Amino acid sequence: MALWGGRFKDVPDLEFKKFNDSLIFDYKLAEQDLTSSIAWAGALHEIGILEHQEYHEIVKALAELIVEANDNEDKIKFNSSEDIHSYIEQRLIEKVGDIGKKLHTGRSRNDQVATDFKLWCKQASQSILASLKDLKKDFVCLAKKELGTVIPGYTHLQRAQPILFSHWCMAYYEMINRDELRLEDAIKRLDYCPLGSGALAGTAYPIDRESLAHHLGFSGATSNSLDSVSDRDYVVELLSCASLSMIHLSRFAEDLIFYNSGEAGFIELDDSFSSGSSLMPQKKNPDALELIRGKTGRVFGSQIALMTTLKSLPLAYNKDLQEDKEGLFDAFPTWLASIKMASNCIKTLKVNSFQMKKAAMGGYSNATEVADYLVKKGIPFRDGHHIVGQLVQYALKQNKSLEDLNINEFKSICNLIEQDVYECLTIEACINNRMALGGTATEQVKFAIKQAEKKTLFE
Ligand code: ARG
Repeated sequence: MALWGGRFKDVPDLEFKKFNDSLIFDYKLAEQDLTSSIAWAGALHEIGILEHQEYHEIVKALAELIVEANDNEDKIKFNSSEDIHSYIEQRLIEKVGDIGKKLHTGRSRNDQVATDFKLWCKQASQSILASLKDLKKDFVCLAKKELGTVIPGYTHLQRAQPILFSHWCMAYYEMINRDELRLEDAIKRLDYCPLGSGALAGTAYPIDRESLAHHLGFSGATSNSLDSVSDRDYVVELLSCASLSMIHLSRFAEDLIFYNSGEAGFIELDDSFSSGSSLMPQKKNPDALELIRGKTGRVFGSQIALMTTLKSLPLAYNKDLQEDKEGLFDAFPTWLASIKMASNCIKTLKVNSFQMKKAAMGGYSNATEVADYLVKKGIPFRDGHHIVGQLVQYALKQNKSLEDLNINEFKSICNLIEQDVYECLTIEACINNRMALGGTATEQVKFAIKQAEKKTLFE
């Protein structure tokens, strides 16, 4: 029988029951529901609602149910109870008899589900944080290993300026670092416990909500009972953290898919993270990266779905809020798997530094250097830019690179150019001239790596 059966003459229509029940997905909250129930039993004991013996019997049974729940997920999810809260209350009563019926005193499933879900979010975020940290380390490792490797830097997917491959690695390190900080920040904001808010108006029992919150590992209790039972900001925030991080991972995936292409040939993905074609025997496809890119859409979908559900929802609890879970239950494992797959690709890829350097040297990517050279000769940058544009036009016509032009050809366009121009055309000069903070000069990249290592050391 449903928890609320007393008021009803008829049993629920079967189709409605199936539509209304949430056990099929909220069984995932079993452990959190049992944990919050144990804490609630403690709070009821403190105010004398549960006698010493009753409290101990209830807590013992709930602790046993934690073990049972961990071993029997499938059995629970196909039970006919409405949701995880009803299921656990029913199992408790089966185990301890009538005293089990006292546990729901002063509590509602509305504050209960909000508490359970927050506990789940905090726990699930820990695995995400750990894997983000690992991925950061993987980027730093590769950056250190490939410090001498040059790659073309692109804008508009046109070769723009040569950069160190390590600089590229550290760019993703920065993104993933922000993802980590953002998630930590979101967790701080959600870390307030709604338990003891009742259905919406607060509980009628003198519960010490602060102490209850601390018992459950929260940093404090929520302030307003209406807000407590209807707030799902934290789910939107977590989905937004996931979405933004997936944006980063999808950009990473896209870069590597291009670097791995036959046309670029900058890297080779490991066989163990690639797959083949059923028809074309020569194919080795970057499926892991394509799936990271593809799964990004699905994570965005969860965020948009929940925001749409919450829009215009009146206070306080409405059953619409039951729709808050499945999106996150899907998005978090998807995010976690994508981070791990990104780590795997980074750890196992092979770098083709010859091909990278060859590409970096083409495409007139040292043209900016000549404009900067002219600035040193006293020519305003805008004029220098124009002169180099003409040089590139000339070189293109001759089918030569800038460094292939002889000094007379340089002088025919600008006679201030001297023999020393050739020094600034080398790839090393292009890279090491970018020595202001955050640039691709070797010293700067080494500094970035050092800073990153220092941070990860103190984490
Ligand atoms: N299964 C519900 C949910 O996930 C629990 C709360 C139900 N509360 C209610 N008054 N019907 O949101």
